[in-house]
Amino acid sequence: MRAGGRKNAAVAVIPAALLAEGPSVLENLPDILDVHTYGEILEELGGAVRWLGKGRLEINPNSFSTYQAPYELVKRLRASYYLLGVLLARFGRAEVSLPGGCDIGLRPIDQHLKGFRALGAEAEISHGVVRLEARQLRGASVYLDVVSVGATINIMMAATLARGTTVIENAAREPHVVDLANYLSAMGAQIRGAGTDVIKIRGVSRLKGAAHAIIPDEIEAATYMIAAAGTGGDVTVENVIPKHLDPITAKLREAGAEVEENGDCIRVRGTGRPKAVNIKTLPYPGFPTDAQQPMTALLSVASGTSLVTESIWERRFRHVDELKKMGSNIRVEGRTAIIEGVERLSGAPVTVTDLRGGAALVVAGLMAEGTTLVVGIERVDRGYESLEKKLAALGARVERD
Ligand code: EPZ
Repeated sequence: MRAGGRKNAAVAVIPAALLAEGPSVLENLPDILDVHTYGEILEELGGAVRWLGKGRLEINPNSFSTYQAPYELVKRLRASYYLLGVLLARFGRAEVSLPGGCDIGLRPIDQHLKGFRALGAEAEISHGVVRLEARQLRGASVYLDVVSVGATINIMMAATLARGTTVIENAAREPHVVDLANYLSAMGAQIRGAGTDVIKIRGVSRLKGAAHAIIPDEIEAATYMIAAAGTGGDVTVENVIPKHLDPITAKLREAGAEVEENGDCIRVRGTGRPKAVNIKTLPYPGFPTDAQQPMTALLSVASGTSLVTESIWERRFRHVDELKKMGSNIRVEGRTAIIEGVERLSGAPVTVTDLRGGAALVVAGLMAEGTTLVVGIERVDRGYESLEKKLAALGARVERD
């Protein structure tokens, strides 16, 4: 199968296009709900958005005029908080409703606000709306108390048009932070150090539109790799950057799968019942939290006991109750799931609790004996393009009701 563009890069570069004074063309965007939702949000804000073909989106910010993004507009998309950095940089003002708590945790934005305040903005949250205002953004040093992808990206975007130099310390190093920095640099931003924990941004007075193709989605790729390992399959995932998948590759090999890297492809072969392994989710380059749930599904049939510690999100084990309906033997204690592997899962009706938890249920269904009905699959569509088509092409017996 071929990995699509990375969801979490797409939901950052799309709003970033509004920082420019001219049109941008974004390529390799995945055909997923979150991308279409963001396109609609930009149109509602007065931007002009035009699809030029599969995965190619032209965004023209010129008619873009408002700094307000109300709740009914942003509630469908968690990543709408990136509008804060963009609107603040373009208009010196931003009023964006909070999309609300998420199914995996509270999603605080205190670090985002810490960065905006350091850049000279007044920032306050009242009645569920984040209000920012700054006569002139000025470069500043910001030390993030926690490694936050969202805060790193939001502050980096705002800093591109600030007067002076901004230094973000303890910055997130995720590949899509680098991908966004590459796009911003193509627009004329002056950014150094993306991908390390210190990012320097020298503000400029304006940015121009640019063309940018986003990086592949390593979480989509990881999901299919894990499914291959759990079903004794033999799957080649194309259009990946193997380096971005190092933690997944390492853990699948530890679990006994055969993993081969060839250029921009990765081949995974399951070799029978997986071995138990321990996982601890960490910021990049650690094991990605977004792959924790599909991995938990795989380990539910491993030979032995696995420990999975979710250090990023406080509520990212809600898929466990659903896996238990399929016969898994998992005990959650705080941030750790203790998984006693069982021989085989059995198909059952289960309900999607959140995007990656839903992906975990699909992986479990592929491994289980009998039929599994995954209810609420549209939540998985938010992050996985043509899910059943890609699975069926790999030999899975899957259909959408
Ligand atoms: C991004 O969320 C991703 N979402 C998440 O993927 C991913 O799980 C997460 O990064 C970690 O990799 C998008 O990119 C749209 P964070 P984000 O800020 O930016 C705490 C998916 O499935 N924190 O890196 O919101 C926070 O509570 C989604 O595709 C603060 O305390 O995550 C968490 O414990 C789910 N204060 C930790 O930092 C803040 O101001 C990491 O959060 C911000 C975050």
